[in-house]
Amino acid sequence: MNRNAFAAASAFAVVAVFSAAVVAQDMRPDRAIKYRQGIMQAQGWQMGVLSRMAKGEIPYNKDQAVRAATFVNELSKMSWEGFVPVSDSGNTKARPDVWKDKAKFDRLAQEMQSETPKLVAAANSGDVAQLRAAVGAVGKACNNCHDDFQKQ
Ligand code: HEC
Repeated sequence: MNRNAFAAASAFAVVAVFSAAVVAQDMRPDRAIKYRQGIMQAQGWQMGVLSRMAKGEIPYNKDQAVRAATFVNELSKMSWEGFVPVSDSGNTKARPDVWKDKAKFDRLAQEMQSETPKLVAAANSGDVAQLRAAVGAVGKACNNCHDDFQKQ
């Protein structure tokens, strides 16, 4: 096999394995639900660190703030692939509207993801007032979606 043919065959193998993983996940709605809830929980954990710092409940520490903000920013991209259509029932607090009004859900997801890089910038500024404002803005973006799409 020449080098190009080998590269093409390897790429095909990678695609095939990846598709199999996606199909397997589609057939296991409970895993998709746990996956997205886990990411959401992690976001909540890291936002909790930042919000306690912003309120002065724990001492301000720039490195810790940057770390938590960076995690929130990365996590903000991750949960969405867990909202597969077959996972609208079971052990979930997601309302059926997630799939019925997907355009709105996606818009609110996008709005949150446009706030989280500002959270990283605010943490890097070393200014608590900026951090406080950015934590408020991200928290609002979380709640905007929960108000409409998460069962209370
Ligand atoms: C675009 C919509 C949307 C955004 C934005 C969003 N969430 Fe969620 N969140 C949901 C939905 C829907 C659920 C319910 C998931 C389920 O039970 O399957 C949820 C669940 C949760 C849960 C509970 C998870 C569990 O184990 O039951 C936490 C905690 C959470 N979100 C935190 C956050 C935080 C923090 C942010 C912002 C940084 C955020 N969410 C942004 C839609 C969103």
